[in-house]
Amino acid sequence: MRIVMVGSGYVGLVSGACMADFGHDVTCVDKSEEKINALEAGKVPIFEPGLEAIIRQNRGAGRLGFSKELAAPVAAADVVFIAVGTPSRRGDGHADLSYVYAAAREIAEAVSGFTVVVTKSTVPVGTGDEIERIFREEFPGKDIAVVSNPEFLREGAAITDFKRPDRIVIGTEEPRAIEVMREVYRPLYLNEAPLYFCERRTSELIKYAANAFLAMKISFINEIADLCEQLGADVQKVAKGIGMDKRIGDKFLHAGPGYGGSCFPKDTLALVKTAQDFGSPLRLIETTVAINDNRKRAMGRKVIAACGGNVRGKKVAILGLTFKPNTDDMRDAPSITVIQALLDGGAIVHAYDPEGMEAAREMLGAVVYGGDPYEIAENADAVVIVTEWDEFRALDFKRLKLSMNEPVVVDLRNIYPASEVSKHGFSYFSVGKKG
Ligand code: UDX
Repeated sequence: MRIVMVGSGYVGLVSGACMADFGHDVTCVDKSEEKINALEAGKVPIFEPGLEAIIRQNRGAGRLGFSKELAAPVAAADVVFIAVGTPSRRGDGHADLSYVYAAAREIAEAVSGFTVVVTKSTVPVGTGDEIERIFREEFPGKDIAVVSNPEFLREGAAITDFKRPDRIVIGTEEPRAIEVMREVYRPLYLNEAPLYFCERRTSELIKYAANAFLAMKISFINEIADLCEQLGADVQKVAKGIGMDKRIGDKFLHAGPGYGGSCFPKDTLALVKTAQDFGSPLRLIETTVAINDNRKRAMGRKVIAACGGNVRGKKVAILGLTFKPNTDDMRDAPSITVIQALLDGGAIVHAYDPEGMEAAREMLGAVVYGGDPYEIAENADAVVIVTEWDEFRALDFKRLKLSMNEPVVVDLRNIYPASEVSKHGFSYFSVGKKG
C-alpha cells in the first residue's frame, strides 16, 4: 500500500513509522519546514521510546520518507491519513477543525484515482460527514471514500500500542474502503488484533467514549482516595479489590494528582460540549471534568498542609513535571497547577524531570531547575513526587535525609510503601492511604 500521513506530529509520526515497519510505502507530510528538515536529518522531534530506531530502520529500507508538500505523494497514494492537530478552540472548548478541513481540501485537490481518506485525528462526531460533503460539492469528479480510524495510542507506550492493539476501530460502510483498510492493517490482523468495522459516526464516538470512560475511572478512584483518607482505608487495596472483578477491570484505577496530557482533558471537554449542543448532556463526564480540575488544585493544598500549612519562604523540590512518565509532554500536566499553588503560597520551587524541563521552562513561572533529585532536594523543606518516573522509584532516602532541611516526602503517585520512607525518619504523605 502507498500511504500518506498528513501531519507529522505525535500520532502521524508514530502511525506512519509503524505502518512503514509493516512493509507499506509511507510518506509523512508536515507544513512545518523545521520539523521536516529535522526528520530528514535523522532527528526525531518528540520523545517516544523505540520511535527513533523504527524511523531509522525504515528510512534506511526506503519505505519511509518525509515531505513538506502533499500533492505528489497524495496523487500516488492508496490511502491518505489526516493526522493534524485538533486543539481546543479558545473560548468554547469545542475542537478546532480548521486544520482538518484545510488538509482535506488540499488532499482532494491532489488525489487521482480511487483514494481512501482516513481521519486519524480525534474529530467530533459528524466530521467525516462534513469532509464527505466538502469532497462531493467542491470536488465532484474525485473518487474518494472517507473513513474514520481513531487512534488509541498512549504516549510512552505508543509503539507497543500500535503493534499490539486491543482493537482497531474502522468506521466505514464502503466496500472498497473496507478492503483497503483490511490491507493496511493486514499484518496486525494476522496478529489476531480484532478489526472492528462500524459506521463512521459510531467510530468517531467510540474514540471519545473510550477516553471519557477512562477519565471517569480515574476521577472515580481519586474521589475514593479522598474518602479512604477520611475513613482510614487504603485506596490501592480498594482498587485491587474492585479490579479483580472482571466487569470493572484493574486498569486506570491508580489514584493520583489527576489526569493530564494531550487527550483526556481536551477530549472530555469536547465531548461534554457536543453532548450539550445535541441536548443530551453527559452529566457523568461533566462531573469527571470538574473533579479533575479541582483535584489538581487540591494536590497543591495537600503539599502545603504537609509543610505545616504554610510554604512561604520554604523550598519545595518537585520530582517529575510531565503529565506521566516516558514522555516530554507537559500539556495539561498536574504539575503546572500544583506548582502554581505553591508559588502562590510563597514557596521557592525547585524542579527536576528527566525529559520535561525544556517544555516546562516555557510554561512555568519562577521555578529553579536542577540536574537530579538530590541536587534539588538540598536544603528543601519537602520533596514532592508528582510524576512516577522509574528513576524516582529507588531514591536514596538516607542521602536525602542528610541534605534536606525538613524530612518531608509527599508522594502523589503512591510509588512507595509508607514504611519504606518513614523508617528513614521522614514524614510521608501519600494519596488515599495512611502515611
Ligand atoms: C490516553 C489514552 O490512554 C489513549 O488511548 C488515547 O489515545 C490518548 O489518551 P495518554 O494521554 O498518552 O493516552 O496517557 P494515559 O496513559 O492514558 O494517561 C493519561 C493520564 O491519566 C495521565 O496523566 C496519567 O497519569 C493519568 N492516570 C492514568 C492516572 O492518574 N491514573 C491511572 O490509573 C491511569
